[in-house]
Amino acid sequence: MKDVTKAYQEALKARERAHAPYSKFLVGACLKVRNKDIYFSGCNIENASFGATVCAERVALWNWASQCASPQEREAANIEFMVLVTDTTNPVATPCGMCLQTLSEFLSPTTPIFLANLAGLQKEVLFKDLLPYSFHLATL
Ligand code: THU
Repeated sequence: MKDVTKAYQEALKARERAHAPYSKFLVGACLKVRNKDIYFSGCNIENASFGATVCAERVALWNWASQCASPQEREAANIEFMVLVTDTTNPVATPCGMCLQTLSEFLSPTTPIFLANLAGLQKEVLFKDLLPYSFHLATL
């Protein structure tokens, strides 16, 4: 099975685990670690306070980031791509602004983001096309 297909399957499975009793909008995300057959997925986890809700992309990203054993492993180039699955068409959903800023901490501008729905992969975009100008501290 191709890597992106595998990530799509993982994102689909993650989506089924979404905790979305308020919006009923289920989201799944999965990223692949470069040069390894390792995938990290996440689903959206809502909260009664609404504002404390976390999107699937950030859950997947933090799942990966929290498992990195060293700063080297956490380098941007180590995420090969991300797949996002929602039940949307025309247009298929993209990551929200807060997730894009969060992803910008760890993804590189050319990291592919695959947008998908229940019918399969729909569109491939580069991260820089979704967020051309992210916020970065000059001192980092
Ligand atoms: N959501 C995501 O998980 N990812 C996005 O990029 C946008 C929105 C979630 C948050 C909330 O649980 C539900 O979708 C409706 O906004």
